[in-house]
Amino acid sequence: MVWAELLDKLRLRGDERILDLGCGRGAVLLMAAQRLTTGRAVGIDLWRSADQSGNSAQATQRNAFAEGVTDRVELHTGDMTALPFADNSFDVVVSSLAIHNISGRAGREKAVYQAVRVLRPSGRLLIADIRGTRQHQAQLAKTGMSDVTRRRLGWRFWWGGPWAATRLLTATKPTSTPQE
Ligand SMILES: C[S@@+](CC[C@H](N)C(=O)[O-])C[C@H]1O[C@@H](n2cnc3c(N)ncnc32)[C@H](O)[C@@H]1O
Repeated sequence: MVWAELLDKLRLRGDERILDLGCGRGAVLLMAAQRLTTGRAVGIDLWRSADQSGNSAQATQRNAFAEGVTDRVELHTGDMTALPFADNSFDVVVSSLAIHNISGRAGREKAVYQAVRVLRPSGRLLIADIRGTRQHQAQLAKTGMSDVTRRRLGWRFWWGGPWAATRLLTATKPTSTPQE
C-alpha cells in the first residue's frame, strides 16, 4: 500500500501526534496508529456517506479495534475547514482523497490553511488527492511552507480511472511561518 511506504519514510519515533483530515473508515489513520507507541492518530471527519460508503465514527472505531490500535486512535466529528485543534498541535498532518470532496475552492483553501495552522514547526504535511493539488501547492508555497513537492503516486494509487491519477503533495512547516 502506497500510504504504508509514505508513513514509513517519515521515520516516526512513535510518540507523534498525527492528524488525518477526512479519515473516513480509517484506511490511512489506522496505518498511522500502527506506527505509534505513545503517540496518537487523530481522525476528523463529517462521515459523509456520499463520499465513502458505510462511513461513520462507529465503523472507524470498530476498524481500530480490529487492528488492535484503539488505545492510539482518537476520532472527532468535525469539519476540516474549521479544525477544533490548537495551533502547532500536530507533528504530522495527512489527508487522503478527501479535500476534493469539499465543494468550492474557498472551502478547499480553508482546509489547507487549517492543516498548516495546526502543524507544529518542522511538522510534515502529506496530501494525496485526485484534484486541486496544483492549487494547494501554490497555496502552501505562499504560506511559506518549505520543501513543497508534488508528484504522481502512480498506477497503484489510481482512483476513478486513469484520467484521475492521484498526486501527492508534501511540505514541511518552517520554524517560523508567515501564515497566509
Ligand atoms: C473519499 S473519502 C476518503 C476517506 C479516507 N481518507 C480514505 O482514504 O479511505 C473522503 C472523506 O472526506 C470526508 N469529508 C468530506 N468533506 C469533509 C469536511 N469538510 N470535513 C471533514 N471531512 C470531510 C468524507 O466524509 C469522507 O469520509
